[in-house]
Amino acid sequence: MLSNAQVLTILGLSVLQVMGVIDPSLAKTPQMGWNSWNKYQCNVNETVIVNTANFMVSSGLKDLGYQYINIDDCWSLHQRDNSTQRIVPDPEKFPNGIKGVADKVHALGLKLGIYSDAGTNTCAGYPGSYGYEQIDAQAFSDWGVDYLKYDNCNNLGLAGNASISSKRYKRMGDALKNVSRPIFFSLCSWGQDDVWDWGRSVGGQSWRMSGDISDHWSSVVSIINQEVPIANISAPGGWNDMDMLEVGVYDQMTITEYTSHFSIWAAMKSPMILGNDITNMTSDIKNIITNKEVIAVSQDSLGESVKQRWVKGDTHLFAGPLSGQAYVALFLNEGNSTVTMTGTWSDVFNNKHANKQKSIAVRDLWAHTDLGSFRAAVSVDVEAHGVRMLRFNQQA
Ligand code: GAL
Repeated sequence: MLSNAQVLTILGLSVLQVMGVIDPSLAKTPQMGWNSWNKYQCNVNETVIVNTANFMVSSGLKDLGYQYINIDDCWSLHQRDNSTQRIVPDPEKFPNGIKGVADKVHALGLKLGIYSDAGTNTCAGYPGSYGYEQIDAQAFSDWGVDYLKYDNCNNLGLAGNASISSKRYKRMGDALKNVSRPIFFSLCSWGQDDVWDWGRSVGGQSWRMSGDISDHWSSVVSIINQEVPIANISAPGGWNDMDMLEVGVYDQMTITEYTSHFSIWAAMKSPMILGNDITNMTSDIKNIITNKEVIAVSQDSLGESVKQRWVKGDTHLFAGPLSGQAYVALFLNEGNSTVTMTGTWSDVFNNKHANKQKSIAVRDLWAHTDLGSFRAAVSVDVEAHGVRMLRFNQQA
């Protein structure tokens, strides 16, 4: 007689999947949402979170796929509860606890994220989860938390190679598997110890591959260059996290630069976590973060990042496949004046046997325009710090 587990295995289901604990659908495409840190830092509270959640719905962002509302550092008191050992939400910032916020966020059809740390304390000095993983995972589950961003500060020196760091993160990955609520596990280990090699194996669904982003073009360029050699790692189930979006946070980039930033994060399949005050944004910023055609690239079911095809001076060509035989190409100009860039069919499709005579229809995802049909290559003007993002509905 077969055991239940054997029957489930034959059916291709694990016990954990049936219990709903491991939900493979959580990371089928890069996660989309909002996080409090970039704009509010430690000034996070229930009002900020609930206002943002309400606006996520009323502005139509939820319908575009943004679903997580994530509380970052500084949400708790400095001391754990003496008897339960749980982390205590700061009653001034969160008078209804995290559970109270989760209920409000869920009532809007959105999901709630929280933040902790794989060390003794968070980066801002609040309690971290190291040594308390199961207690904290249980509390998060009880409160209705759907997402955990897990930072890397104050880690007792338990870092320096993949084996040591991965063990520290696995403790929480395992604890999350023991609770009844599916919780998305977002590792925030700043690319340390090649986290992209082990993030998946400790239960992570995304992992930061770089240090903190800032609202500057040089920061965006630096993260892109770090991502290029590891772009093949992202795939459904686990994503390289290029950090939260800076679009419209402090207006330290031009609209052109923010447009490039958003395009590249989408095409490289980074999580798309907004950081700006979405309750008060200009129409230019709203136009960027609501571009359906670019979001469709981010959320494409194939889940494959674009790859860098070439670099010529300050210009880079990135391209990669989408589902349904389609392709996307990004022409990026890091230089300071407009240039004309050309992508041949063999560059775009990464195929030296590409049919140069094939006429292919090309669509511009920012102009929302069909550019017409081209043979052998397509050339576009790309402004300083700008991108052109083109979609091809078939291959050569
Ligand atoms: C950093 C992390 C940031 C933010 C901050 C909070 O380590 O990379 O995204 O979470 O800590 O203190």
